[in-house]
Amino acid sequence: MSNAGANPDAHPLARSVSFKRSDKTATWTPKAGSLLDFAEDSGIAMDYSCRSGECGTCSAFLLEGEIAFYSDPDEKFGPGLHKTCCSFPKTDIVLDA
Ligand code: FES
Repeated sequence: MSNAGANPDAHPLARSVSFKRSDKTATWTPKAGSLLDFAEDSGIAMDYSCRSGECGTCSAFLLEGEIAFYSDPDEKFGPGLHKTCCSFPKTDIVLDA
């Protein structure tokens, strides 16, 4: 059975990601990668440096929802502020970006 023409928004892991300051919402799926990759592909300008979870430059406040990390995060940036280069949405989310 072919998935050609399938609605990508129908992916079982599809999540709505809203970038509040940019007033933009898009649908994330696992092939979109990290929240940083997804933001860039969605036209959202995000600061970054290492892209490997080391520097914290890519951090953004999570305003609503839950995210998960590809590896254990170093949570030293305070509540709600998370590294977008090594995380992905677990639920529909709103980022302050
Ligand atoms: S870009 Fe360095 S932690 Fe994300």
